[in-house]
Amino acid sequence: MKNKRITFNKPFFFENEFKKNLSILKQKSHFSSLGYFTEKCKNWLSLNLNCKNVFLVHSCTAALEMTALLLNIKKGDEIIMPSYAFVSSANAFVLRGGKPVFVDTGSNNCNIDPNKVEAAITKRTKAILVVHYSGFSCDLDKILKIAKKHNLFVIEDAAQSILSTYKNKKLGSIGDIATISFHETKNIHCGQGGALLVNNERFVKRANILLEKGTNRYLHRNNLIKKYTWIDLGSSFALNEISAAYLYTQLVKAKEITNQRKRIYNYYNKKFEILEKKGFLLRPQIPRHSKTNYHIYYILILKKKRDDLISYLKSKKISALFHYIPLHKSKYGKQNGIAKFSMKNTDWISNRLLRLPLHHRIKKKDINRICNEILLFCKR
Ligand SMILES: Cc1ncc(COP(=O)(O)O)c(C=O)c1O
Repeated sequence: MKNKRITFNKPFFFENEFKKNLSILKQKSHFSSLGYFTEKCKNWLSLNLNCKNVFLVHSCTAALEMTALLLNIKKGDEIIMPSYAFVSSANAFVLRGGKPVFVDTGSNNCNIDPNKVEAAITKRTKAILVVHYSGFSCDLDKILKIAKKHNLFVIEDAAQSILSTYKNKKLGSIGDIATISFHETKNIHCGQGGALLVNNERFVKRANILLEKGTNRYLHRNNLIKKYTWIDLGSSFALNEISAAYLYTQLVKAKEITNQRKRIYNYYNKKFEILEKKGFLLRPQIPRHSKTNYHIYYILILKKKRDDLISYLKSKKISALFHYIPLHKSKYGKQNGIAKFSMKNTDWISNRLLRLPLHHRIKKKDINRICNEILLFCKR
């Protein structure tokens, strides 16, 4: 019998629930933004992530761009961030003339190394941006301490880490500002969407203005002024109501989704124990201070070339993916960022990390097949 293709991702689609929400939407007859479902999603996020000020936007990239505007990033301002990150984390600041200053990850750890952050601070530094890679929290206490000492803002790029925690606090609720992604590759999605979480009250008023194209329309919506007008920079950052209606079907099932991912993650982890003992690979280590949302199951390939394994798995109809070309090595990152420190760990990880299929359609027999193929490849 022929083996079936194993896809890397299969986003959830709750058809009946979405249909129900669409009929509510039809009744409300408000499809643009900031309507009934936006309110429902905001309330859910606020309650479950412990953040008072939630802004629903069309992508995490948009939330990062709003962050750069809120921080008033100007030409030459520096933002410390990991090089092992998604392009939007840097691009948002470069768009405003800012300079990403790349810092290495810890060893065998995909998050920024807090012990290397202080050396990167200069007179121009405005903020430290951390990425909680794969749902694992950074060591935030160390980052917060450095930020306080040098009077810097802390941004959490929590694109991948909805419902993960750091010392029992929800990720996204700790930094001055945080961003979340609801792209279809994420645990909870609406095709494409995001959220901006504003924990530092000084940014709340302006976030309302940026969200609505630089106008004071939020006051008008709350019947506080008769006419709204253009008062600042801004853009059409808000999420539309159709996407919010879709997102809400997922948010209400978020804990169920996380538990399902946990079972798959744990099964992979058990299966790879032997291969780790044999020295073929390393399994992910959930930091002791963190509870994960099981966003990614990755392995670090030790004795063979990771890219050869990707090709081998592809020939066996299994889709497995690398992450990332580090930003300091990309053409645009070299032109627009600062990489004056050693990136030894980042380079090591980015050459070895392999992400494996993790979604609700994956069965134990698929995981057995994936692990067997990896074993066969490692023994070749
Ligand atoms: C760490 C990180 N930041 C930002 C983003 C951008 O998210 P979005 O696609 O919602 O704009 C992603 C997307 O994968 C990401 O992984």
